[in-house]
Amino acid sequence: ESLRAFIHALPKVELHIHLVGSANVGTVLALARRHPEAGVPADRAELEQFFVFRDFEHFLKVYWAVQSMLKDRHDISTLVVGLAAELARQNVRYAEVTVTPYNHLLDGMPGDELLAGLTEGRSAAKAEHGVELAWCFDIPGEKGVRAGRETLVFALRERPDGLVSFGLGGPEVGVGRAQFEPFFTAARETGLHSVPHAGETSGPATIWSAVHDLGAERIGHGTSCAADPALLAYLAEHRIPLEVCPTSNVRTRQVSSIAAHPVRRMLDHGVVVTLNTDDPPMFGATLEGEYRAVATTLGLREAEVAELARNAVRASFLDAPAKSAML
Ligand code: ADE
Ligand code: ZN
Repeated sequence: ESLRAFIHALPKVELHIHLVGSANVGTVLALARRHPEAGVPADRAELEQFFVFRDFEHFLKVYWAVQSMLKDRHDISTLVVGLAAELARQNVRYAEVTVTPYNHLLDGMPGDELLAGLTEGRSAAKAEHGVELAWCFDIPGEKGVRAGRETLVFALRERPDGLVSFGLGGPEVGVGRAQFEPFFTAARETGLHSVPHAGETSGPATIWSAVHDLGAERIGHGTSCAADPALLAYLAEHRIPLEVCPTSNVRTRQVSSIAAHPVRRMLDHGVVVTLNTDDPPMFGATLEGEYRAVATTLGLREAEVAELARNAVRASFLDAPAKSAML
């Protein structure tokens, strides 16, 4: 119908997507055939079953299975180019993609292979699919300050083309944001932007800490801000955008449905909302699907849907001319 076509035609950007979590069935199939020792099904039908999540535990199991198959530059560039092809299909022109170097290094991938795969993949994404990619290197929070330090050192030493931001992901409960303050401070001093996850699986205090301790310029998820009127007002006043991932939040059972998602409340309080997918094939999500779901559930007019897409362009770390070209 016309909403579908309207959303497709909008030039879109994606600000919250994890590289490992972006692997679709076709990409995982290619990896599974290359790495049979990983025990991931190399048969399409079986793999499609493997991708049907029962719960968050199962999601993590698949996420780690994909992660464990990534051994060299070829695997990384396969993932990057597969992601770019999918973005191009949806008229997504630009994406900031989260990469977790510490996990790849732990899994035995040499840093040089990771960087070569990212850089080769980024060039091919542009050349073959016309999609511009940028990187966010993030700390796997559950691995503590050691992971924070090593992620910082890797980011600053290597500084690959397209690296724009520094993040923090993984579980939030029991993983205080403040312990990572020195790494975010150092990263920001070199010009990297601060984009921690906060308020996905814990309360508003985590978001306050992301803002005050980590200098967050955008918040990954931020779902729980809706419980704190002062925080809603603060985010609106300081124009700190939220990277909202509605389907992800439903699939990980942080909210019961899109209709129950606080995105309406965020918008009503003037918070800058962007729509994103997090780990799209793993959650059965697409960026177009997120726009359709939110537009339909909230009864948005076309102009309001277009405004959400422009929010993401403005909240991106594209340079000013590139933003203007998309607004
Ligand atoms: N890494 C991959 N997916 C994630 C999520 N939904 N929350 C935090 N870290 C993640
Ligand atoms: Zn995420």
